[in-house]
Amino acid sequence: MSRQLGRGKAHAKAILLGEHAVVYGHPAIAVPVLSLQAWAEARFDPSLDDIIIELPHNGRAYSLQRDPQQPLVQAAALILQHLGATASNLRIRLRSQIPAASGLGSSAAVAAALIRAVSNLFDAKLRPATLSELVFQVEQVQHGTPSGIDNTVIAFERPVYFRKGQPPCFLPLPVPLHLVLADSGRPSLTRESVAAVREQREQDPAHVDAVLSCLGALAEEGRQALEQGDLVALGRCLSAAHELLAAIQVSNESLDRLVAAALEAGALGAKLTGGGRGGHVIALVEPESAEPVVEALRSAGAARATLCRIGRGCRVQ
Ligand code: MEV
Repeated sequence: MSRQLGRGKAHAKAILLGEHAVVYGHPAIAVPVLSLQAWAEARFDPSLDDIIIELPHNGRAYSLQRDPQQPLVQAAALILQHLGATASNLRIRLRSQIPAASGLGSSAAVAAALIRAVSNLFDAKLRPATLSELVFQVEQVQHGTPSGIDNTVIAFERPVYFRKGQPPCFLPLPVPLHLVLADSGRPSLTRESVAAVREQREQDPAHVDAVLSCLGALAEEGRQALEQGDLVALGRCLSAAHELLAAIQVSNESLDRLVAAALEAGALGAKLTGGGRGGHVIALVEPESAEPVVEALRSAGAARATLCRIGRGCRVQ
């Protein structure tokens, strides 16, 4: 059974605590950012003898015949294989509001939207765990050694406490979180920042391992704070994590400036999020101090600064 048109969407994510450390087996916490989304539409096109993936928002297009190794082409091939379907005349169109290479999970979200659209075209139901596994495989093509946190939070659409190789633990939020997302305006590839940390670790294992352990301990502390609704303690964890991420060279001058500006304007805590070396800063705020923090981040050079609310359930569907 198939339809005329399959649709899928997925949202961005933000890592609250534990990025980079999670690659080495330490815990991390991530939340879905439902206000930023990627969408996909899939349809059969009798004029094609190929699978074409179009991304009009950045003027790119990929094809199974020309770009078989491209991660989104791989995503299409993986879901077709999973469904036991063959399709040599598929046109998939993607749109995304999530800035690419900016720490918000754009690559995993776009792949998840595509996979959902193709499975919707074939009228198939995809369990979140299956979607997560398929996106993980795409992330391996894209990033090399992903921990699995991005595909998990994006597929399950719930705040997650995550440890590589262990079942994800979903966290109820007793109070909503208000996060300001500030874009440094400098894209940065996760693959490269993960490789840079790996190289540093080879050169100075004692220092890097000590920092990664402290980042993992902060994720534990942050989990308790989150579960108790103690936003002041959570904010302290975020700011401490930024210092530690800076100690393994994944911050830079513009990220440090944004973090300092957010704290100065009254944020409870602030840090870079995701791979770092560019991308986004997140600032945890009380709703009443959101506006001054947004303003301070813009004045400090953020290309964009927007408030988003992370609610209790967080599920889109
Ligand atoms: C990327 O969103 C987070 C990193 O920890 C990499 C990963 O977990 O795969 C930097």
